[in-house]
Amino acid sequence: MTGRVFAVASGKGGVGKTTTAVNLAAAMAEADRSVVLVDYDLGMANVGAVLDVRRSSATSSAAHQNAKRSEDVDAADATLHDVLAGEADTLDAVADAPGEFDVIVGGTDIEDFGRADPSKLRDVAEDLRAEYEVTIVDTGGGLSHDTTVPLGLADDVLLVSTPQVAALENTEKTLELARRVGGDVEGVILTRVGGRDVDTPDAVEDLGVPVLGAIPEDGAVADSEDAGEPLIVHAPENPAAQCYRELGYELLDESPPLSFRDDEEDAPAAAGAAGAFSEAMDDEEPEQRSLLSRLTGGRLG
Ligand SMILES: Nc1ncnc2c1ncn2[C@@H]1O[C@H](COP(=O)(O)OP(=O)(O)OP(=O)(O)O)[C@@H](O)[C@H]1O
Ligand SMILES: [Mg+2]
Repeated sequence: MTGRVFAVASGKGGVGKTTTAVNLAAAMAEADRSVVLVDYDLGMANVGAVLDVRRSSATSSAAHQNAKRSEDVDAADATLHDVLAGEADTLDAVADAPGEFDVIVGGTDIEDFGRADPSKLRDVAEDLRAEYEVTIVDTGGGLSHDTTVPLGLADDVLLVSTPQVAALENTEKTLELARRVGGDVEGVILTRVGGRDVDTPDAVEDLGVPVLGAIPEDGAVADSEDAGEPLIVHAPENPAAQCYRELGYELLDESPPLSFRDDEEDAPAAAGAAGAFSEAMDDEEPEQRSLLSRLTGGRLG
């Protein structure tokens, strides 16, 4: 098998990459794909915490390791950091995630960071391509050597940004970087739409890449993190979950299942969040519509 690899990246940190990676993994698993999510935020791995999957690093100090093990007897040993350090095989680091997909979490000890060789991600991605239809790589924010590796090896780079100008400007840098390393940028996913002061979408247009989806600000995201589950699993019919579901199916060139679609008269399923967004951007009199409405294709606002 030659699976498809998506990298989820952003310029600014804290814009919703991990939330997006986790929920796209759950959506694509719902679409019956075999999916593995890789936490490639080498400095601040947190997918394990968000999904309540914890692993002890194989090479942590014995005392530390035993303490962790006694807290969680089901935890296996290997983390992505062990694999990148050449101390474990890729598939040994795979764990089950809530939501019918697999996950490779990162180590959380400070010494893990120094051991990991970011360039080994290429081998990890090849191992996973052979086993899974979809690999989703969650990355850290910013422009460092670590973050460029997944941008270069992914089949599709998904940029994540909030709709604020500052975040979008940083997104532009990541876009440029992705292109320099030969990354194939699929488009941008806007997150937390409607939650804070929203600037004009001109900055979105300036990026010159398709808007793949617009995810509304939703308090249920934090609740799902507390529950250790993807939002799609925690609250399947929640509006932000619906948006992630549509996005996940659309990235696989499929239509989302009927039972999860919005009222068809209000939101034709074929358009989806991204399609409706593009239509809104092409509107001849965009000022007539509220910005939120434009950002969400009439879904909100
Ligand atoms: N649609 C949303 N509605 C409300 N809160 C959200 C939404 N998406 C993400 N958040 C919240 O925003 C914060 C950052 O999200 P997340 O961890 O996914 O971002 P990140 O880009 O991965 O951050 P980092 O760069 O630190 O890895 C979290 O507290 C999360 O709960
Ligand atoms: Mg993150």
